[in-house]
Amino acid sequence: MAKNDKKNEWKEFFWNPRTREFCGRTASSWGLILLFYLAFYIFLAALFVLTMYVMLQTLDDHRPTYQDRLSTPGMMIRPKGEQLEIVYSLEYTETWERYVQALNNFMSPYNDSVQAQKNYECKPDQYFIQEDSGILKNFPKRSCQFKRSILENCSGITDRYYGYNEGKPCIIIKLNRVIGLLPARDRQPPYVTCGAKKYKVGNDEWADDSDKLGALAYFPPNGTFNLMYYPYYGKKAQVNYSQPLVAIKFLNITMNEDVNVECRINANNIPEGSERDKYAGRISFKLRINSLN
Ligand SMILES: *[C@@H]1O[C@H](CO)[C@@H](O)[C@H](O)[C@H]1NC(C)=O
Ligand SMILES: *[C@@H]1O[C@H](CO)[C@@H](O)[C@H](O)[C@H]1NC(C)=O
Ligand SMILES: *[C@@H]1O[C@H](CO)[C@@H](O)[C@H](O)[C@H]1NC(C)=O
Ligand SMILES: *[C@@H]1O[C@H](CO)[C@@H](O)[C@H](O)[C@H]1NC(C)=O
Ligand SMILES: *[C@@H]1O[C@H](CO)[C@@H](O)[C@H](O)[C@H]1NC(C)=O
Repeated sequence: MAKNDKKNEWKEFFWNPRTREFCGRTASSWGLILLFYLAFYIFLAALFVLTMYVMLQTLDDHRPTYQDRLSTPGMMIRPKGEQLEIVYSLEYTETWERYVQALNNFMSPYNDSVQAQKNYECKPDQYFIQEDSGILKNFPKRSCQFKRSILENCSGITDRYYGYNEGKPCIIIKLNRVIGLLPARDRQPPYVTCGAKKYKVGNDEWADDSDKLGALAYFPPNGTFNLMYYPYYGKKAQVNYSQPLVAIKFLNITMNEDVNVECRINANNIPEGSERDKYAGRISFKLRINSLN
Protein backbone atom coordinates (compact mmCIF):
# COMPACT_ATOMS: atom_id res chain seq x y z
CA MET A 1 0.00 0.00 0.00
CA ALA A 2 2.79 2.39 1.00
CA LYS A 3 4.52 1.57 -2.25
CA ASN A 4 1.48 2.61 -4.24
CA ASP A 5 1.24 5.91 -2.35
CA LYS A 6 4.80 6.77 -3.23
CA LYS A 7 4.10 6.05 -6.88
CA ASN A 8 1.04 8.26 -6.85
CA GLU A 9 3.00 11.05 -5.23
CA TRP A 10 5.48 10.93 -8.03
CA LYS A 11 2.80 10.82 -10.63
CA GLU A 12 1.07 13.80 -9.08
CA PHE A 13 4.24 15.77 -9.10
CA PHE A 14 4.38 15.48 -12.88
CA TRP A 15 0.71 15.81 -13.51
CA ASN A 16 -1.79 16.70 -10.85
CA PRO A 17 -5.24 16.25 -12.34
CA ARG A 18 -6.93 18.04 -9.43
CA THR A 19 -5.06 21.31 -9.64
CA ARG A 20 -4.21 20.74 -13.33
CA GLU A 21 -0.54 21.40 -12.54
CA PHE A 22 2.41 20.08 -14.48
CA CYS A 23 5.59 19.84 -12.41
CA GLY A 24 4.03 22.10 -9.88
CA ARG A 25 2.98 24.80 -12.31
CA THR A 26 -0.16 25.58 -14.22
CA ALA A 27 -0.13 25.71 -18.00
CA SER A 28 -0.36 29.50 -18.01
CA SER A 29 2.55 29.74 -15.57
CA TRP A 30 4.64 27.56 -17.90
CA GLY A 31 3.55 29.57 -20.84
CA LEU A 32 4.69 32.78 -19.19
CA ILE A 33 8.11 31.31 -18.42
CA LEU A 34 8.56 30.10 -21.99
CA LEU A 35 7.45 33.44 -23.31
CA PHE A 36 9.91 35.22 -21.05
CA TYR A 37 12.85 33.11 -22.22
CA LEU A 38 11.84 33.38 -25.83
CA ALA A 39 11.75 37.16 -25.61
CA PHE A 40 15.03 37.15 -23.69
CA TYR A 41 16.87 35.11 -26.32
CA ILE A 42 15.43 37.09 -29.19
CA PHE A 43 16.66 40.20 -27.45
CA LEU A 44 20.18 38.73 -27.07
CA ALA A 45 20.32 37.63 -30.70
CA ALA A 46 19.17 41.06 -31.86
CA LEU A 47 21.82 42.73 -29.72
CA PHE A 48 24.50 40.48 -31.20
CA VAL A 49 23.39 41.16 -34.77
CA LEU A 50 23.25 44.88 -34.12
CA THR A 51 26.78 44.94 -32.63
CA MET A 52 28.13 42.94 -35.55
CA TYR A 53 26.43 45.22 -38.02
CA VAL A 54 27.79 48.38 -36.43
CA MET A 55 31.29 46.88 -36.32
CA LEU A 56 31.24 45.81 -39.94
CA GLN A 57 30.09 49.26 -40.96
CA THR A 58 33.25 50.74 -39.51
CA LEU A 59 35.47 48.40 -41.53
CA ASP A 60 36.37 49.49 -45.01
CA ASP A 61 36.82 46.49 -47.20
CA HIS A 62 39.52 48.07 -49.30
CA ARG A 63 41.71 49.59 -46.68
CA PRO A 64 43.07 47.98 -43.59
CA THR A 65 41.66 49.68 -40.49
CA TYR A 66 44.85 49.26 -38.58
CA GLN A 67 48.24 49.84 -40.09
CA ASP A 68 51.29 50.36 -38.01
CA ARG A 69 52.23 53.98 -38.36
CA LEU A 70 55.06 53.20 -40.71
CA SER A 71 56.02 56.44 -42.28
CA THR A 72 59.46 55.14 -43.08
CA PRO A 73 59.36 52.12 -45.32
CA GLY A 74 61.86 49.35 -44.81
CA MET A 75 64.07 48.20 -47.64
CA MET A 76 64.84 44.69 -48.76
CA ILE A 77 67.49 43.20 -50.97
CA ARG A 78 67.43 40.28 -53.35
CA PRO A 79 68.96 37.79 -53.42
CA LYS A 80 68.74 37.60 -49.67
CA GLY A 81 71.54 35.55 -48.26
CA GLU A 82 71.79 34.40 -44.69
CA GLN A 83 72.05 37.44 -42.42
CA LEU A 84 72.23 39.78 -45.37
CA GLU A 85 75.47 38.32 -46.60
CA ILE A 86 76.23 37.56 -50.17
CA VAL A 87 79.35 35.45 -50.25
CA TYR A 88 80.54 33.27 -53.08
CA SER A 89 83.55 32.04 -54.97
CA LEU A 90 83.88 33.08 -58.56
CA GLU A 91 85.34 29.82 -59.79
CA TYR A 92 82.84 27.58 -58.05
CA THR A 93 79.61 27.86 -59.99
CA GLU A 94 77.59 26.09 -57.32
CA THR A 95 78.38 28.85 -54.80
CA TRP A 96 76.62 31.55 -56.85
CA GLU A 97 74.11 29.53 -58.82
CA ARG A 98 71.60 29.74 -55.96
CA TYR A 99 71.78 33.54 -56.04
CA VAL A 100 71.07 33.51 -59.77
CA GLN A 101 68.23 31.06 -59.20
CA ALA A 102 66.78 33.24 -56.43
CA LEU A 103 66.92 36.29 -58.70
CA ASN A 104 65.28 34.37 -61.54
CA ASN A 105 62.40 33.40 -59.26
CA PHE A 106 62.08 36.87 -57.85
CA MET A 107 62.10 38.51 -61.28
CA SER A 108 59.71 36.10 -62.93
CA PRO A 109 56.55 38.11 -62.15
CA TYR A 110 58.31 41.11 -63.69
CA ASN A 111 58.62 39.43 -67.09
CA ASP A 112 57.73 41.98 -69.72
CA SER A 113 54.97 39.77 -71.11
CA VAL A 114 53.46 39.18 -67.67
CA GLN A 115 53.49 42.89 -66.85
CA ALA A 116 52.02 43.86 -70.21
CA GLN A 117 49.13 41.50 -69.54
CA LYS A 118 48.50 42.40 -65.89
CA ASN A 119 49.27 46.05 -65.62
CA TYR A 120 48.66 49.41 -67.11
CA GLU A 121 51.07 51.60 -69.02
CA CYS A 122 51.08 54.63 -66.75
CA LYS A 123 52.19 58.12 -67.46
CA PRO A 124 55.66 58.33 -65.91
CA ASP A 125 57.02 60.95 -63.50
CA GLN A 126 53.75 61.71 -61.75
CA TYR A 127 51.76 60.04 -59.00
CA PHE A 128 49.06 57.70 -60.24
CA ILE A 129 46.18 58.94 -58.10
CA GLN A 130 42.99 56.89 -58.14
CA GLU A 131 40.89 58.23 -55.32
CA ASP A 132 37.42 57.07 -54.46
CA SER A 133 34.75 59.70 -54.92
CA GLY A 134 32.56 59.59 -51.85
CA ILE A 135 31.03 56.18 -51.33
CA LEU A 136 31.63 55.32 -54.98
CA LYS A 137 34.59 52.99 -54.87
CA ASN A 138 37.12 53.34 -57.61
CA PHE A 139 37.67 49.60 -57.69
CA PRO A 140 39.64 47.66 -58.70
CA LYS A 141 42.43 50.15 -59.02
CA ARG A 142 44.94 49.77 -61.78
CA SER A 143 48.65 49.25 -61.23
CA CYS A 144 51.57 50.36 -63.33
CA GLN A 145 53.81 48.08 -65.32
CA PHE A 146 57.28 47.41 -64.06
CA LYS A 147 58.99 45.40 -66.77
CA ARG A 148 62.23 43.68 -65.85
CA SER A 149 63.87 44.98 -69.01
CA ILE A 150 63.98 48.38 -67.26
CA LEU A 151 66.81 46.93 -65.19
CA GLU A 152 68.93 46.47 -68.35
CA ASN A 153 72.20 44.80 -67.37
CA CYS A 154 70.66 43.56 -64.13
CA SER A 155 67.44 42.30 -65.74
CA GLY A 156 68.74 38.80 -66.29
CA ILE A 157 67.74 39.06 -69.95
CA THR A 158 70.98 40.03 -71.70
CA ASP A 159 73.15 38.73 -68.89
CA ARG A 160 71.45 35.64 -67.53
CA TYR A 161 73.87 35.36 -64.59
CA TYR A 162 73.31 38.94 -63.37
CA GLY A 163 77.09 39.45 -63.41
CA TYR A 164 77.74 36.87 -60.69
CA ASN A 165 79.97 34.82 -62.98
CA GLU A 166 82.27 37.77 -63.67
CA GLY A 167 82.46 39.14 -60.14
CA LYS A 168 80.17 42.07 -60.99
CA PRO A 169 77.04 41.00 -59.15
CA CYS A 170 73.69 42.76 -59.22
CA ILE A 171 71.70 43.38 -56.05
CA ILE A 172 68.03 44.26 -56.34
CA ILE A 173 66.40 46.64 -53.89
CA LYS A 174 62.77 47.14 -53.13
CA LEU A 175 60.88 49.27 -50.67
CA ASN A 176 58.29 47.71 -48.45
CA ARG A 177 54.78 48.65 -49.36
CA VAL A 178 53.29 51.46 -47.34
CA ILE A 179 49.71 52.35 -48.14
CA GLY A 180 49.27 55.95 -49.21
CA LEU A 181 52.96 56.83 -49.12
CA LEU A 182 54.00 59.51 -51.60
CA PRO A 183 57.79 59.46 -51.45
CA ALA A 184 59.70 62.24 -53.14
CA ARG A 185 62.91 64.18 -53.03
CA ASP A 186 62.27 67.86 -53.66
CA ARG A 187 59.27 66.86 -55.78
CA GLN A 188 61.59 64.63 -57.81
CA PRO A 189 61.37 60.84 -57.60
CA PRO A 190 63.12 59.21 -54.66
CA TYR A 191 66.33 57.41 -55.50
CA VAL A 192 68.68 54.87 -53.99
CA THR A 193 72.34 55.45 -53.26
CA CYS A 194 74.77 52.89 -51.98
CA GLY A 195 78.09 53.41 -50.31
CA ALA A 196 80.50 51.88 -47.88
CA LYS A 197 78.94 51.32 -44.49
CA LYS A 198 80.67 52.93 -41.53
CA TYR A 199 81.40 50.51 -38.74
CA LYS A 200 82.97 50.80 -35.35
CA VAL A 201 86.48 49.42 -34.92
CA GLY A 202 87.18 50.71 -31.43
CA ASN A 203 86.24 53.41 -28.97
CA ASP A 204 84.99 56.22 -31.15
CA GLU A 205 86.94 54.87 -34.07
CA TRP A 206 85.14 54.22 -37.26
CA ALA A 207 86.14 52.64 -40.53
CA ASP A 208 84.56 51.85 -43.85
CA ASP A 209 85.34 49.84 -46.95
CA SER A 210 85.06 52.67 -49.46
CA ASP A 211 88.44 51.84 -51.01
CA LYS A 212 87.16 48.32 -51.80
CA LEU A 213 83.73 49.22 -53.09
CA GLY A 214 84.64 50.21 -56.63
CA ALA A 215 82.28 51.80 -59.12
CA LEU A 216 78.54 51.13 -59.05
CA ALA A 217 75.95 51.21 -61.80
CA TYR A 218 72.31 51.90 -60.99
CA PHE A 219 69.31 50.65 -62.96
CA PRO A 220 67.05 52.36 -63.85
CA PRO A 221 69.35 55.37 -64.33
CA ASN A 222 70.10 57.22 -61.08
CA GLY A 223 68.46 54.44 -59.09
CA THR A 224 65.06 56.12 -59.07
CA PHE A 225 61.68 54.77 -58.10
CA ASN A 226 59.37 56.41 -60.56
CA LEU A 227 56.55 58.43 -59.01
CA MET A 228 53.92 56.61 -61.03
CA TYR A 229 54.19 53.59 -58.70
CA TYR A 230 52.77 55.68 -55.85
CA PRO A 231 50.54 55.83 -53.96
CA TYR A 232 49.89 52.20 -53.14
CA TYR A 233 46.27 51.55 -52.20
CA GLY A 234 46.54 48.14 -50.54
CA LYS A 235 46.46 44.52 -51.54
CA LYS A 236 42.72 44.33 -51.94
CA ALA A 237 42.25 47.50 -53.94
CA GLN A 238 45.29 47.04 -56.16
CA VAL A 239 45.42 43.34 -56.79
CA ASN A 240 48.12 43.41 -59.46
CA TYR A 241 50.47 45.92 -57.84
CA SER A 242 54.14 45.27 -58.63
CA GLN A 243 56.65 46.98 -56.40
CA PRO A 244 59.18 49.01 -58.36
CA LEU A 245 62.77 47.86 -58.17
CA VAL A 246 66.22 49.38 -58.30
CA ALA A 247 69.26 47.32 -59.21
CA ILE A 248 72.84 48.03 -58.23
CA LYS A 249 75.71 46.46 -60.09
CA PHE A 250 79.11 46.30 -58.42
CA LEU A 251 81.47 46.91 -61.31
CA ASN A 252 84.87 46.73 -59.66
CA ILE A 253 84.55 45.33 -56.16
CA THR A 254 87.72 44.14 -54.45
CA MET A 255 87.96 40.35 -54.36
CA ASN A 256 88.76 38.25 -51.32
CA GLU A 257 87.70 40.97 -48.91
CA ASP A 258 84.60 41.67 -46.88
CA VAL A 259 82.89 44.76 -48.21
CA ASN A 260 80.20 46.31 -46.01
CA VAL A 261 77.67 48.17 -48.09
CA GLU A 262 74.82 50.42 -47.05
CA CYS A 263 72.05 51.53 -49.37
CA ARG A 264 69.52 54.19 -48.52
CA ILE A 265 66.48 55.76 -50.03
CA ASN A 266 66.78 59.49 -50.64
CA ALA A 267 63.40 61.03 -50.13
CA ASN A 268 63.17 64.12 -48.00
CA ASN A 269 59.54 63.58 -47.12
CA ILE A 270 60.43 60.30 -45.49
CA PRO A 271 61.72 61.09 -42.00
CA GLU A 272 65.18 59.86 -41.14
CA GLY A 273 65.11 56.58 -39.28
CA SER A 274 64.14 57.45 -35.73
CA GLU A 275 65.54 55.83 -32.62
CA ARG A 276 62.64 53.42 -32.67
CA ASP A 277 63.33 52.35 -36.21
CA LYS A 278 66.93 53.05 -37.06
CA TYR A 279 66.95 50.92 -40.15
CA ALA A 280 63.96 52.42 -41.87
CA GLY A 281 64.86 53.74 -45.28
CA ARG A 282 68.20 52.00 -45.35
CA ILE A 283 69.70 48.54 -45.51
CA SER A 284 73.19 47.23 -45.10
CA PHE A 285 74.72 43.97 -46.17
CA LYS A 286 78.06 42.27 -46.58
CA LEU A 287 79.44 41.32 -49.93
CA ARG A 288 82.41 39.04 -50.37
CA ILE A 289 83.58 37.53 -53.60
CA ASN A 290 86.38 35.05 -53.37
CA SER A 291 88.58 34.42 -56.35
CA LEU A 292 91.68 32.37 -56.98
CA ASN A 293 93.38 35.19 -58.91
C1 LIG B 1 59.69 34.71 -67.15
O1 LIG B 1 60.63 34.56 -68.19
C2 LIG B 1 61.58 33.52 -67.97
C3 LIG B 1 62.52 33.53 -69.16
O2 LIG B 1 62.87 34.82 -69.51
C4 LIG B 1 60.87 32.18 -67.85
O3 LIG B 1 61.80 31.17 -67.55
C5 LIG B 1 59.85 32.25 -66.73
O4 LIG B 1 59.12 31.05 -66.65
C6 LIG B 1 58.90 33.41 -66.96
N1 LIG B 1 58.00 33.51 -65.83
C7 LIG B 1 56.69 33.72 -65.98
C8 LIG B 1 55.91 33.79 -64.70
O5 LIG B 1 56.16 33.86 -67.06
C1 LIG C 1 45.04 41.86 -63.04
O1 LIG C 1 45.65 40.94 -63.91
C2 LIG C 1 44.76 40.09 -64.60
C3 LIG C 1 45.58 39.16 -65.45
O2 LIG C 1 46.49 38.46 -64.70
C4 LIG C 1 43.81 40.90 -65.45
O3 LIG C 1 42.86 40.06 -66.07
C5 LIG C 1 43.08 41.90 -64.56
O4 LIG C 1 42.26 42.74 -65.39
C6 LIG C 1 44.07 42.75 -63.79
N1 LIG C 1 43.35 43.61 -62.89
C7 LIG C 1 43.56 44.93 -62.83
C8 LIG C 1 42.74 45.68 -61.85
O5 LIG C 1 44.38 45.50 -63.52
C1 LIG D 1 75.63 47.13 -69.87
O1 LIG D 1 76.49 46.11 -70.33
C2 LIG D 1 77.06 46.40 -71.61
C3 LIG D 1 77.84 45.18 -72.02
O2 LIG D 1 78.63 44.69 -70.97
C4 LIG D 1 77.95 47.65 -71.52
O3 LIG D 1 78.51 47.95 -72.76
C5 LIG D 1 77.08 48.81 -71.04
O4 LIG D 1 77.88 49.96 -70.84
C6 LIG D 1 76.37 48.46 -69.74
N1 LIG D 1 75.42 49.50 -69.43
C7 LIG D 1 75.50 50.25 -68.35
C8 LIG D 1 74.47 51.31 -68.19
O5 LIG D 1 76.37 50.06 -67.49
C1 LIG E 1 70.08 61.57 -63.21
O1 LIG E 1 70.52 62.61 -62.34
C2 LIG E 1 71.18 63.68 -62.99
C3 LIG E 1 71.70 64.63 -61.95
O2 LIG E 1 70.85 64.69 -60.85
C4 LIG E 1 70.19 64.33 -63.96
O3 LIG E 1 70.84 65.39 -64.66
C5 LIG E 1 69.70 63.30 -64.97
O4 LIG E 1 68.73 63.86 -65.80
C6 LIG E 1 69.11 62.10 -64.24
N1 LIG E 1 68.79 61.08 -65.23
C7 LIG E 1 67.61 60.47 -65.26
C8 LIG E 1 67.41 59.48 -66.34
O5 LIG E 1 66.75 60.71 -64.45
C1 LIG F 1 89.22 48.81 -60.05
O1 LIG F 1 89.69 49.03 -58.74
C2 LIG F 1 91.09 49.02 -58.59
C3 LIG F 1 91.42 49.27 -57.13
O2 LIG F 1 90.68 48.41 -56.31
C4 LIG F 1 91.73 50.08 -59.47
O3 LIG F 1 93.13 49.99 -59.39
C5 LIG F 1 91.29 49.89 -60.91
O4 LIG F 1 91.77 50.95 -61.71
C6 LIG F 1 89.78 49.84 -61.00
N1 LIG F 1 89.36 49.53 -62.36
C7 LIG F 1 88.53 50.28 -63.04
C8 LIG F 1 88.21 49.83 -64.43
O5 LIG F 1 88.03 51.27 -62.56
